[in-house]
Formats: sequence, structure tokens, C-alpha cells
Amino acid sequence: MIEVRHLTHIYNQGTPWEIKALDGISFRVERGECLGIIGESGSGKSTLAQHLAGILSPTRGSVFVDGSDMYTRQRGSNMRKEVGLIFQSPEDQLFEESVFKEISFGLTQRKNLDRREIKEKVKGICRELYPPLDELLDRSPFELSEGEKIMVVIASVLASEPEILIFDDPCAGLDPENRSKVLHQIEILRGSKKTLVILSNQSEGWVHLLDRIIFLHLGKIIAQGRLQDLLAS
Ligand SMILES: Nc1ncnc2c1ncn2[C@@H]1O[C@H](COP(=O)(O)OP(=O)(O)OP(=O)(O)O)[C@@H](O)[C@H]1O
Ligand SMILES: [Mg+2]
Repeated sequence: MIEVRHLTHIYNQGTPWEIKALDGISFRVERGECLGIIGESGSGKSTLAQHLAGILSPTRGSVFVDGSDMYTRQRGSNMRKEVGLIFQSPEDQLFEESVFKEISFGLTQRKNLDRREIKEKVKGICRELYPPLDELLDRSPFELSEGEKIMVVIASVLASEPEILIFDDPCAGLDPENRSKVLHQIEILRGSKKTLVILSNQSEGWVHLLDRIIFLHLGKIIAQGRLQDLLAS
């Protein structure tokens, strides 16, 4: 369902600051799969995450979702509903004055929902999260702890009911308690049959959630496969 073909991304092309962040990578993600992409800092994970969400334009190559080009589609229509990106830093994604407004933002863009329905939907999403966010709805998202901020971002992305969720280093900078909350939430989403792509600079503590792993190094795929097969080789 997601097909990345010969994707290359060069920042500042043609200048002395040119950086090849992704170097001709190709892979597929099947519907319902949970794929891990692991690479050290600077390996190109965030660049790739933004391509999967159709935010960046490829220097070369393409990303297809269900057969159509992601970047063109994202710009043209309501593709956001199909792919949700949870950014590496929640601050890059949060912008509303209250948690309720943050989560309901996507819903208010839909013409067919009235205020009561939006409130019900937000409550429903909050109840499904672990831990539930009901208590935080009137707070400013910027005053929350790092762990709570990530949960608000996850809730706001879930509100637009995407089929595919991309997590860019969801546990980076979190303490062990918040890390395990986020991982628990990912486990719940995995059970709900969403397609998940999780990018991280380390695999410790969550590889059991993955159907398949891709190792990224300096913008290239250096190994990929099922965990058992990779360990065996
Ligand atoms: N906006 C940008 N302009 C120029 N270079 C960039 C930009 N964003 C990233 N890069 C460079 O591209 C390369 C890949 O960066 P990227 O952020 O995708 O890596 P990452 O694997 O997400 O790293 P981290 O684990 O630190 O988040 C790095 O060399 C980085 O310096
Ligand atoms: Mg990154």
C-alpha cells in the first residue's frame, strides 16, 4: 500500500551546503503492517517520515500510497485523512490554546459535524488513549509534560482517522515511564489493524511490536527483514 521507489532527498542542492539525506531507497509497507525504521542520528529518518506523509517533494524518486503519488495527492486533496504523521518534536505540531481545540481542529474542518458531535468524538478519542486525556481538555498543550504533549499530538492525528500512522522517534527524549506509555499506545493501535511506521534511533524495548525492520545508515538501507531472519543472519 505504501511504495517508496528510488527515493532521494538532497537538501540545499547546488549550494556548498548540499546534503544527501536519502540516497535512492526503495521499500514497501503492506496494509496492517507495523514497520520499524531504525537508524542513528542523521541517517535520514525525519526526512523519510516527511516524505511518507507527503510533506516534502522528492529530489528523485517517488512515494506511492495505494498507487498514487503521495506528494501530488497531499497537496491536491484530503490525503491527511489517510496518513497521519506524529512529528519528532510535539512543539512543531501543537498550535492551539487548549487541548480540546488541538484535538478537535481536524474535526472542525469537516462540514458534516456539529458542535455536539465534535465534543463526543473528542471524548471518545480521549477515552481510547492510555492514559485517558479527559482531565486535560481545558489546559494549554504547551503547559503539559513531554509525555502528555505526545499523547495530545497522537489524539489530534487520530481525530482525522488516518489508515496509516507515521511515528517519527516517538520516544526520543522521554523518561522510561512516558516511554512505556507511548509504547503501550502504539501496541493498542497495532491491535486496531492500522498501518504503522515507527522511526527511531534505537530498537530497545519495542522490537517485539514490529513485523519487519529496516536499518537506515547515511540515507541508505543497509539491512531489512523480519526480526528473526535478521538475528539469524
Ligand atoms: N532542513 C534541513 N536543511 C538541511 N539539512 C538538513 C535539514 N534537515 C535535515 N538535514 C540533514 O539531513 C540529514 C538527515 O537528517 P534527518 O533529520 O532526516 O535525520 P534523523 O535520522 O531524523 O536524525 P535524528 O535522529 O537526529 O532526528 C542530516 O545530515 C541533517 O543534518
Ligand atoms: Mg529525526
